[in-house]
Amino acid sequence: MKLCMIGTGYVGLVSGVCFSDLGNTVYCVDKDKKKIELLNKCKVPIYEPGLEELIKKNFKQKRLIFTTDFKSAVEKADIIFICVGTPTNKNSNSANLNYVFQVANQLKKNIKKYKIVVTKSTVPVTTGDKIEKILVKQKNKKLVDVVSNPEFLREGEAIRDFVYPDRVVIGTNSKKANRILKNLYLPIIKKSSRYLHTSRRGAELIKYASNAFLATKISFINELANLCEQTNVDIKDISSGMGLDQRIGDRFLRAGPAYGGSCFPKDTRALIDTANKYKVDLSIIKSTVKSNNLRKIKLTKKIEKILNKKLKGKKITFLGVTFKPNTDDMREAASIPMIKYLNKKGCEVRYHDPSGEKKEFRNLKNVKYFKDISAACLKTDLIILHTEWNDFKLLNFKKLIKKKNFIVYDLRNIYSPTKMREMKIKYFAVGR
Ligand code: UDX
Repeated sequence: MKLCMIGTGYVGLVSGVCFSDLGNTVYCVDKDKKKIELLNKCKVPIYEPGLEELIKKNFKQKRLIFTTDFKSAVEKADIIFICVGTPTNKNSNSANLNYVFQVANQLKKNIKKYKIVVTKSTVPVTTGDKIEKILVKQKNKKLVDVVSNPEFLREGEAIRDFVYPDRVVIGTNSKKANRILKNLYLPIIKKSSRYLHTSRRGAELIKYASNAFLATKISFINELANLCEQTNVDIKDISSGMGLDQRIGDRFLRAGPAYGGSCFPKDTRALIDTANKYKVDLSIIKSTVKSNNLRKIKLTKKIEKILNKKLKGKKITFLGVTFKPNTDDMREAASIPMIKYLNKKGCEVRYHDPSGEKKEFRNLKNVKYFKDISAACLKTDLIILHTEWNDFKLLNFKKLIKKKNFIVYDLRNIYSPTKMREMKIKYFAVGR
């Protein structure tokens, strides 16, 4: 099939590359010329394990085309995927749909024969109806089917998630569009039980509901971790004990810092905003958002407590600053407010992250990036294990720090408290 991905951000690029690897011809369109130039040199603008190899392979075989020529790509394609960003609007919680509607308006002028237009961007329920209104003129009603096909890719695992999805959700009431899309996904759904055909609005809402539920699961376990710290219980026991109940499941029950990233914070806010518009009170999801915001403050206060409220001049080393490992993404990373606060309080903050230096900290006077992990840790007062990159899982702290008194605050519960105690290392973890 001939596909066109509009937007070569995370979703568009990964999906486009994976679709081409399944044998489709894929036109990846973006208005950002620099990005397209980069991609045409097979250079990847994002950090995603395995993506560069797949780009090189499919680009060579001419199944993957990067272009700024919207019109010609749309003309050639049978299916057009809208994959542009839907960030949170300034001064509100709603999703900004400007890019989505701009694309719809551009498509309106360029659709001359039957096409399926699919929204992969995360869009509030009823957005498909609005896109359809833009695209479907009375006289050419049969020319376009607007479908919702939300994306569930996790950063860092995106290729595996694409090839082995838990489910593919297709929201449409068009039998024709459903048949064509099922066919497109056939190589990866294999077992058709993984293919879920719903209404378009249903598919739009499934995406938000899933993200909000996962975010709630994390906030739930994070709050229980607070209780565990007060009652001397190990949160890992609680996660395991709960997770063994198949109705609950063991995933997304790892306690840690506030959840971050490009989806959970933005999508929970947008879902609340949508519900408010319909005068529905999503009180549980509101609590999740509140709990996650409080978590950033709570853990920063704990750092203060660990250092006996004497922050000025203290050397603090963050190991990992991204919102999770295997990504260079800093969007809504819990490290940002934490580091900003510590910087303001006069700490000497150093950080090392395998994905490199971060622009978020460039203008902060007391914050310095270290390419080398030993240099970042040398003679530090406090290590904060913020992101669970594999690089940080077998560290010899004494060798790295080379001084007697130091503290380790393990926000991801990577190390064993017992072993740390045996080694006489002052160690703090989350909920244990
Ligand atoms: C998420 C969803 O998983 C994906 O399906 C959706 O399409 C996009 O949003 P992603 O943002 O890439 O994917 O990251 P994810 O792996 O889900 O982690 C999100 C945040 O939750 C991270 O900050 C992570 O550290 C945190 N997390 C996750 C926990 O704190 N504990 C857990 O048990 C799991």
